[in-house]
Amino acid sequence: MPIRVESVSTSLLVTPAIRRTIRQQKREPLQLSLGKGRKMQSLPTVPAAQTLAQKLALFNPDLPLDKASTIPKLWYLDPEIYAAECKSIFANGWQCVGRVDQLAAPGRYITAEIGGEPVVVARDNDGRLNAFSNVCRHRAARVALEAEGSASCFRCHYHGWTYGLSGKLKGVPEFAGVCDFKKQEIALPSWSVDTWGPFVFVHARSAAAPQPLLEFLSPLVKQSDGLDLSALKFVARKEYILECNWKLFVDNYLDGGYHVNTIHPSLAGVIDYKRYRTEVFAQSAVQISPLKPGDLSSVRSGGSAYYWWLYPSFMLNIYQDTMDLNLVYPLGPSRCKVIFDFFFRHTEGEESRRFIEQSIAVADQIQDEDVRICEEVQKGLASSSFETGRFSVRREAAGYQFHRLLAASLKTAL
Ligand code: FES
Ligand SMILES: [Fe+2]
Repeated sequence: MPIRVESVSTSLLVTPAIRRTIRQQKREPLQLSLGKGRKMQSLPTVPAAQTLAQKLALFNPDLPLDKASTIPKLWYLDPEIYAAECKSIFANGWQCVGRVDQLAAPGRYITAEIGGEPVVVARDNDGRLNAFSNVCRHRAARVALEAEGSASCFRCHYHGWTYGLSGKLKGVPEFAGVCDFKKQEIALPSWSVDTWGPFVFVHARSAAAPQPLLEFLSPLVKQSDGLDLSALKFVARKEYILECNWKLFVDNYLDGGYHVNTIHPSLAGVIDYKRYRTEVFAQSAVQISPLKPGDLSSVRSGGSAYYWWLYPSFMLNIYQDTMDLNLVYPLGPSRCKVIFDFFFRHTEGEESRRFIEQSIAVADQIQDEDVRICEEVQKGLASSSFETGRFSVRREAAGYQFHRLLAASLKTAL
């Protein structure tokens, strides 16, 4: 039997005894009367979750899309879920960390933080790329401090230990007489590293022979074959800090154009919403929107826009003559960093310069609209009135796929 509470202010009237009953009823809906003449409303009741297993059990990934609910709000707020994501998702799969052009010459390096793990990728003097932990073996300071740069070796800024471009320990000041310490056997723990087109990917499971990168990227590799992406050149990077969980940015990206008309009025003018479609794959999805003439046609034209997403946080927006990569890095349960890298086919001359400026300004405006809604949703999730939502069958298949993949990854953290 559902419990009836004759007031909107449930928190004052629900006694401990009623709460116990609610817990016993687990998923039975709470019937809430809004007063005379107003309709009854059903609010989902979710049992208080204690252990990680209980928290994960709040989401059912086995339902068909038309019966499914989203992951519960707890997954966007809880530090334990966040820690499990860092371990089971970001330190256990291919993650894009930058671009090949940043690592063109020997000694060039980039740094990144993948789910709390500081990582360096460096090109050594033999031209090989090496990826390794950016955490000194002495007292855990960083060995590389800049986002990118050139170095002949890495000298830890704390006590001066030095490491080669492949992460091997080279120099240890004032360590004579230390027992069982063999410098030649010490190195920064390595990650797997590989490239596709202009992008550099790392994988923390170097010892366990990760899935080959090309296999992970399929079918993006095959389907983008005819788009001649290699002719696009990197031009600019923009970074944004968002006060929201990283998954909200991905959710927003994967809603099949559902928010385009409401949140992005200018973009909506060139998106053929009726013919916007989504294809879902094992670890990725593509949203394809035919384009129509509109205010933004000068910078968003061509046959179709392609919005590719790779699990968990790689997004590639491809238009005619331009593309931008969006990477989301989690910085905590309610904070993330989003990087935009912009690529263009034509970069020389006044006309190209104008096109690039306008195109980046449009992307920046759209990003601003997305940031505002993502941060608003983060606040809404903290409200006691929300637990989970439902999916549009027409629009949100990719969003559900994302949630199912999250659930599968997080299970490995148990
Ligand atoms: S922490 Fe790096 S040398 Fe001490
Ligand atoms: Fe958007």
